[in-house]
Amino acid sequence: MKVNVILRGDCLEILGTLPPDSVDMTFADPPFNLNKKYNSYKDRKSLDAYLEWCKRWLTEMVRVTKPTGSIFVHNIPKWLTYYAAFLNEIADFKHWISWDAMSIPLGKTLMPTHYGILFYAKDKKLNKFYEIRHPHKRCRKCNVLLKDYGGKKAGLHPFGPLVSDVWTDLHRIKHAKNRDEHPCQLPETVLERLILMTTDEGDIVLDPFNGTGTTVVAAKRLGRKYIGIEIDKNYVTIAEEKLRSISADSHIGGVWVSKYLNGIATIRDKDWEYLKEHFYIPHPIPLLEYDSIIYKNGKIVKHRHVPIEVDEIPVLPFNDVTHSK
Ligand SMILES: C[S@@+](CC[C@H](N)C(=O)[O-])C[C@H]1O[C@@H](n2cnc3c(N)ncnc32)[C@H](O)[C@@H]1O
Repeated sequence: MKVNVILRGDCLEILGTLPPDSVDMTFADPPFNLNKKYNSYKDRKSLDAYLEWCKRWLTEMVRVTKPTGSIFVHNIPKWLTYYAAFLNEIADFKHWISWDAMSIPLGKTLMPTHYGILFYAKDKKLNKFYEIRHPHKRCRKCNVLLKDYGGKKAGLHPFGPLVSDVWTDLHRIKHAKNRDEHPCQLPETVLERLILMTTDEGDIVLDPFNGTGTTVVAAKRLGRKYIGIEIDKNYVTIAEEKLRSISADSHIGGVWVSKYLNGIATIRDKDWEYLKEHFYIPHPIPLLEYDSIIYKNGKIVKHRHVPIEVDEIPVLPFNDVTHSK
């Protein structure tokens, strides 16, 4: 099976050619059937046609995922209720992650302010999973911890708490200058968190709705292999250019981390043992209430764009790809 490729074409057709049990993590951010203005895809199907179509690629995602692997699907809650009912039959439910991010009103409703990310294991008993941490939330002006830990401050983790199933710390891309020509590009930090949580270096990450490549970029930055599938030629080109401009540099001292602006968004719990040498840590620990840990090496730089050899990322027409396990 070819890896580190973006395959242009219909995901159902392409997924059907991949061997079973062959990738470590699948992530799908499909069209939401909300009549979004994509470059070529028409985002408007009847309810039955949309759900029938979703069922087909969800089945394929589960089929190609390894027994140790994880399946993630991002969508609005309305569609996830159908997906969950279906996925419960063919995979093992782990979490409904609620990602706090402004969505669009759908008529007379409460204001939708979260997306869901369904997290399924192909096999719960075999599933590869790492606990992850995010930095303590602090007052932007005074730097004091926002949460009141009362008498438990001595037990604070220097980096920050374990990540829960409600994500309020990862933000949508706000500035137009940071966006691609795509109506619903996800932030890399979301994908990096999922990848750190369920894969190891060298594992294969697959996204059947690759868009402008958030998943494959996150995978490459974290030293994982990737397969992206996308029907639109322009989006493939944008993703390909982004892949060319980055390298596997999202680490500190060789330990993979997810970086965000000038800080870190996510680490693995088990990696703190190695990472802590790279930080000044307030002492005694209760002082963490007022002072952050500080990176010893100056600034943590988010994603340097270093041009690399052009032929490293082949974008192959689907038919040219040979699949061998
Ligand atoms: C919600 S967007 C994904 C955005 C992506 N997560 C990102 O951050 O760039 C869905 C994508 O699926 C693509 N698409 C629609 N139908 C497809 C199909 N049958 N096979 C492959 N890609 C398809 C659309 O062109 C669109 O780019």
